[in-house]
Parts: sequence; C-alpha cells; structure tokens
Amino acid sequence: MKTTEQQETLSGASLAPPWRHRHILDLDDFSRQEIELVFKTTDAMKEILSREIKRVPTLRGKTIITLFYEPSTRTRVSFELAAKNLGADVASLIASASSVVKGESLIDTVSALQALGADIIVMRHPQSGAPYLVAQHLGVSVINAGDGWHAHPTQALLDLYTIQQRIGRVEGLKVVIIGDIMHSRVARSNIWGLTLMGAEVVLCGPPTLLPIGLDSEAALPRVLIETNLDHAIREADVVMPLRLQLERQKRGLIPSIREYAELYQLNGRRLKMAKPSALVLHPGPMNEGVEIAPDVAHGAQSVIEQQVTNGVAVRMALLYILARGGK
Ligand code: CP
Repeated sequence: MKTTEQQETLSGASLAPPWRHRHILDLDDFSRQEIELVFKTTDAMKEILSREIKRVPTLRGKTIITLFYEPSTRTRVSFELAAKNLGADVASLIASASSVVKGESLIDTVSALQALGADIIVMRHPQSGAPYLVAQHLGVSVINAGDGWHAHPTQALLDLYTIQQRIGRVEGLKVVIIGDIMHSRVARSNIWGLTLMGAEVVLCGPPTLLPIGLDSEAALPRVLIETNLDHAIREADVVMPLRLQLERQKRGLIPSIREYAELYQLNGRRLKMAKPSALVLHPGPMNEGVEIAPDVAHGAQSVIEQQVTNGVAVRMALLYILARGGK
C-alpha cells in the first residue's frame, strides 16, 4: 500500500506517452523526451532515497535477475540495490559460478531464468550484441549493462543525469572524452546521449585508440576528433578520461603506459585549460596515475563519487519505467 506521499512522488514522474521501449539496449533509439523522462523519474527516486526508509513497494511481485559474464562493482550492485529499493525480488547470477561453465548457452541460460520467473534481466556480456540476441529470442525485458565494445546505456544515462544535475543543462556544453575511445562502450553510448541532448563531443586519444570512420562531420554530427589533449581540453565544460581497456586491446596500440600518461593523462595542469567550472567525470574503475592524476580524481572538480551515487537512482528510474511497460 503506497502512502499518499509515495503516490504523489511517483505520480509526479508519471510516464509520458513517448516511452517506446520494452528493452534498454543502447541510447541510439532514444528520443530527447525519453531521456528527459528518465531525468524526471530519477529526481523522484532521489527523493525516495533521501527518506529515512529508502524503500517503496512499487515493484512488489516483480523479479529482476542480474546476469554478469564480466566483472562489475558499480553496475551490478547499483542495479541490485535499485531493485530492492523498489520492493522487487532480486537474484544475482555470476556466469563463472553458474551452469555456463558446464557449457550452457546464453539463450538456454536466459530461458532458465525466464522459467524461474524473471521479468527483467540485467545483463553484461563480453560479446557486442549479446543482449540484442536475448531480446530477440525471449519474452523477458533486457537491460544492457555493457556488451563488449558496443554499449553501456545505463552508464551514459547516469553520466548525463550527473551533468544535468550539476550544470543544469546538457545543451550547448563542450564534453571532452579522453583515451581509449575505440574499446569503450561507455564512450559509444555517451556519444549518442550527449549529442541527442545538444552537447558538442570531442573525442581525444592516440590515433590507434580512436575509432575508424569518425573523422568527418558527416560521420557523426557534433562529434569532433582531436589527438592533442592540450588543444582538445580548451574551454571544456566536462572532461571524461577513460581507463585503458587493456583486457580488450590487441598488443602494441600504445608505446608504453608511461608515454600514454605523459600525453593523455588528465592532470592538474591540463584541467586548468578547461573552464574553471569544468566537471571531471569518470565511469570507473579508475587507474589513478595513468588516465587521471590522483589529485584530479579526488579534487574539487571531480563528480566521480556523485556519478556512482546517482547510479542507484537512475537505475531505479529505469526499472520503474520498464516494469510498468510504458504505461
Ligand atoms: N562503470 C562501470 O560499468 O563500472 P563497473 O564495471 O564497476 O560496473
């Protein structure tokens, strides 16, 4: 039974007609209104999280299962907390400790989870496209928690929300994403989300870590490529260094970690070239001393902890919206 306050809070975020998704696979098929709906619903979820008792029974009777074929700290825990905060039943499956190690296929694994009552599967997989395969073949709703190099839409949504919360808008901002763009699913989803919301995105990294085919305005409007960080960062509103995805890289893409850090580390000297009000974001996990200097990671302009905290409210919003099936 909802209290009047809870009813008011959730009805304040009531679903607008434009929501069209049964799955959340990437942001390339999102509209601006849908992202705004996620922001508004996240605001309502943050209000719930500010209460002494941070739980509502909105998703009572729903079963949410997290299925992770790759390691995770933030995404998995925040989804599990989000589902619990909304009163859902939650189960967690780590592929390496499941029947996957006995040879069970992805489709058979998810079929079993569906037969066990899953309404929503939150999945991370090393193969790009794996969540799309599940969404095509099974009846359960799928949330992509990261697939290979391809997409990490819920990370991008929490990044967008954090920018919106701190600056008050995304429109018209200059956002510089630095480093291993080629192997970064976070960068890809952020490019869709940031440009949709009206930001200009500058991708900066060594040529060997930049995706091929992005070097013309026609390839992706509002996305610029720059290999010199001292040029890219000038007058930036938001700076987002990325971890070198060494687990996904072929050997020999950078001469050495030391040289990479010299040319592409976000340090105090470089941050001074951005706007004085610039925010520092990082999706985590960080390799401090490589892509980001420790004093910048923990400095006054860093909102990295706030990103992690916002992850719970953003994921509550997404579960809430999906579980209601757009109604
Ligand atoms: N940003 C992110 O996806 O972090 P985890 O790998 O810890 O989930």
